[in-house]
Amino acid sequence: MIPQSTIRLILETAQIEEVVGEFVQLRKRGSNFVGSCPFHDEKTPSFSVSATKGIYKCFGCGKAGNSVNFIMEHEHYTYPEALRYLAKKYNIPIQEEEPAPEDTEKAGELESLYNVHAFARDYFVKILHETEDGKALALSYLKEREFRPSVIEKFQLGFCLPAWEGFTLHAREKGYNEDILIKSGLSIKKDNRTYDRFRARVIFPIHNLTGRVIGFGGRILTSGQNLPKYVNSPETEIYNKSKVLYGLYFSRSEIASAGNCYLVEGYTDVISLYQAGIRNVVASSGTSLTQDQIRMIRRYAPTITILYDGDEAGLKASFRGIDLILEQGMNVKIVMFPDGEDPDSFVRKNRLSDVEEFLNKERKDFLEFKTAILLKESGGDPVRKATVIREIVQSIALIPDAITRSVYIKECSAKMDVAEQTLINELNKRLREKFRKLIKSEGDTYVPEFRDPLVEQQQEIDITDTEYQEKDIVRIMLLYGDRDIFFENADESGLHKEKIAVNVATFIVDDLVSDGIMIKNPVYVKIFKLFTDYLEENKKPPSFEYFRDHPDIIISKTSADITNTPYEISPHWEDWRRIRTSAEWDRMRELVVNEVLGLKSKRVLMQLENLQKELQGTENEDAQLMILEKIREMKRISIQINDQLSRVITH
Ligand code: GTP
Ligand code: MN
Repeated sequence: MIPQSTIRLILETAQIEEVVGEFVQLRKRGSNFVGSCPFHDEKTPSFSVSATKGIYKCFGCGKAGNSVNFIMEHEHYTYPEALRYLAKKYNIPIQEEEPAPEDTEKAGELESLYNVHAFARDYFVKILHETEDGKALALSYLKEREFRPSVIEKFQLGFCLPAWEGFTLHAREKGYNEDILIKSGLSIKKDNRTYDRFRARVIFPIHNLTGRVIGFGGRILTSGQNLPKYVNSPETEIYNKSKVLYGLYFSRSEIASAGNCYLVEGYTDVISLYQAGIRNVVASSGTSLTQDQIRMIRRYAPTITILYDGDEAGLKASFRGIDLILEQGMNVKIVMFPDGEDPDSFVRKNRLSDVEEFLNKERKDFLEFKTAILLKESGGDPVRKATVIREIVQSIALIPDAITRSVYIKECSAKMDVAEQTLINELNKRLREKFRKLIKSEGDTYVPEFRDPLVEQQQEIDITDTEYQEKDIVRIMLLYGDRDIFFENADESGLHKEKIAVNVATFIVDDLVSDGIMIKNPVYVKIFKLFTDYLEENKKPPSFEYFRDHPDIIISKTSADITNTPYEISPHWEDWRRIRTSAEWDRMRELVVNEVLGLKSKRVLMQLENLQKELQGTENEDAQLMILEKIREMKRISIQINDQLSRVITH
């Protein structure tokens, strides 16, 4: 661990113009420096470096940050990697902090796991190239598969002898104890015998993002024996299968510069594509695709192109993959290979230019892909067509960004010849379902005491809590939920405007739900849920009396309590009709938009704070990178919200 004091020293010493200057030609302009942005293509330089502020900012693509951010972004380094890079540049010695005893033990154990993997990798490589069996059995096999020596070397392929305990004995001789051999999964202990897991297999080392080997895949040489084709390392403290992508260590800068990552199924697909010159490729070997793996790719590129076999299993896997990728806010494209081909075999049979043409021509976006497959299955039956539409809208509902969703809804409407509004209704239903499931999973066992509003007003407002925002939103829903507000909607030409009416409750529910924002206070959740129940059935939202007179005493009391606030002219129920025609109603549209944005904004700040805490408590480099990515995402959202807020206010 790098001590905080050293981190500060590094940050203070590093001169932004020197750090950036190593990668970008900078010219002085006034008190700043300018150059061509290294993060996007541009003709006129819009990349600016301020030496006094210690920051860079590109006015073209918006990338900005300090020296460490620059190195992380440019070199695809983790935070500690970037710090080490800068420390080296400025000759700042890093005295790693003396960790606590239990940490040392833990670190020692991790270190010995890394060591035994490095040792095993070197051993397997040596066996492949320097033994008779290795050359005759394995190297010849790899040559037959047309893997070139340079690629065999790069991916550090190896071989484990057919002997039962060739590796295990060698490792014991070199001083590795049985414990660590078993823990790493390299050796298996059974009936008092300890033998090699990967015996008689070609070895594919699996690397983490710093290039260390954390596990292996082993392929059998001959088919026909009753053995699994591939054997993989078990999960260990350094190998978490759901957080590793095979090939990512080699392909990440290529993925970043292409803006796209090809996702394949097997080790050999990665290597074949890489060898052919298509280097932005990874495989989710060992597991089916996970959320974490997708987030790892998202750090480098916004698009994933799935390359799967055209068989039934490939199709199933791709459908699942599509939804997972959409859920992470990424673009997804799909290429299906002709039956019986996988990327590896296809690349070997065709010239690179033909492969590239095939990929570009066959690549479909998820809507095209799903519609084509599902419509073919449904064979024109209108009832089946409705199922298809529902299935597609379900996928669209997973997309976190509302604008992207509406683009796909438009496209779907055109493709399937269905009215946009029908799709939107279906979509909102899905979004509400999603929200309801989330509420359920949170449970509603906790019910707070009923509080005296007067006492409450004297309490300090906790800035890390959204109770206050929630309360005001629910108050507005209670008082005005069933009334319509109007928005103007211009068509594409901007000439024809139409007025769209939406009731306050629907607007609030849809807006919060579509951004995945939950109400936290359990009583407000109850009220909120009553609204969604009505909307779900396409009914008009209930009016205030429904809540005021609700048999659930918590609901009726709360409804009374929170609508009776200093905002109102009169504290008496009977006057609420008058309230509804009050000044507050006149600015309801702005108020509603503002309240919802205010809640979102605060939630984002809370999440940011939690992430910062999490970051400080994490030592694992990959995990840190993951958190930093989330922080960046949250900051992006925060900027968006503030942007919208300022627009509302200046209106
Ligand atoms: P080759 O036949 O060598 O070209 O392998 P492939 O990469 O084409 O393999 P395939 O398409 O059959 O499987 C894709 C991936 O699934 C492999 O890379 C492995 O990660 C995994 N896999 C395949 N067969 C097995 C198996 O028998 N056991 C396990 N655990 N994984 C397997
Ligand atoms: Mn294959």
